[in-house]
Amino acid sequence: MPIAFVRNVSESINQCELTHMEHEAIDLTNARAQHAKYVEALRHLGCEIHEFPRLDHQPDAVFVEDTAVVVPELAVLTNPGAESRRGEIESVGETLAAYRPVVRLGDSGTLEGGDVLRIDKKVHVGCATRTDEQGILELRSHLEPLGYDVIMIRHGEALHLKTACTYLGEGVLLLNREWVDIEDFDDLEPLECHPEEPFACNAIRIGDSVLFPEEFVRTRERIESRGFKVHPVPASELAKAEGGLTCSSIIID
Ligand code: GLY
Repeated sequence: MPIAFVRNVSESINQCELTHMEHEAIDLTNARAQHAKYVEALRHLGCEIHEFPRLDHQPDAVFVEDTAVVVPELAVLTNPGAESRRGEIESVGETLAAYRPVVRLGDSGTLEGGDVLRIDKKVHVGCATRTDEQGILELRSHLEPLGYDVIMIRHGEALHLKTACTYLGEGVLLLNREWVDIEDFDDLEPLECHPEEPFACNAIRIGDSVLFPEEFVRTRERIESRGFKVHPVPASELAKAEGGLTCSSIIID
């Protein structure tokens, strides 16, 4: 059974980092209600849920994905490009140590898990505002000896690589071509988001379903037309904090 690690929304979520978006008030009650539905959906789709302790003084702590890159052999704690987020790492490391050997990236480079898209032994890593070349070199030094191919991807005006694209399974990459180039992904079939839904590329494949934001109905039609079963969840409140669905969990097998 997969395990999904999650963390509840911090009291201070309105002080979150914003890179490409303007501040818009986040309703904490609604953010927590939507987060609870997300967690329930993960459970429904077969995940065992493990909650990290809430960190009310770390505004972005709900976005646990950025804190660690976990492969079957190892958990790599990151050094987030957003300095304000570095205090989130310790509690994640303490918990993951029960499941994997844990190593930590040094502070000479930066890397956030939202920039890491792993497809089996291929680890695509976005290089932009939050993740730099040195961070990618350090991640490579941990993963290549384990047989992983770590591939650097330059992406456009998206916060993270997985804002621009995610893997739906069966060889299909959901992507926004304005931000990422399908040629960077060997042999994958592109499935483009609807042009009026540029943020609709962040989805999670779990079992035979694709967890997907209910707000993006036009892109949902495209995913379903391609033959995938979609499980919609509300995600609009944390989207104001520049967070997508993958951001709010670390899922391990
Ligand atoms: N607010 C999400 C992030 O910037 O990390």
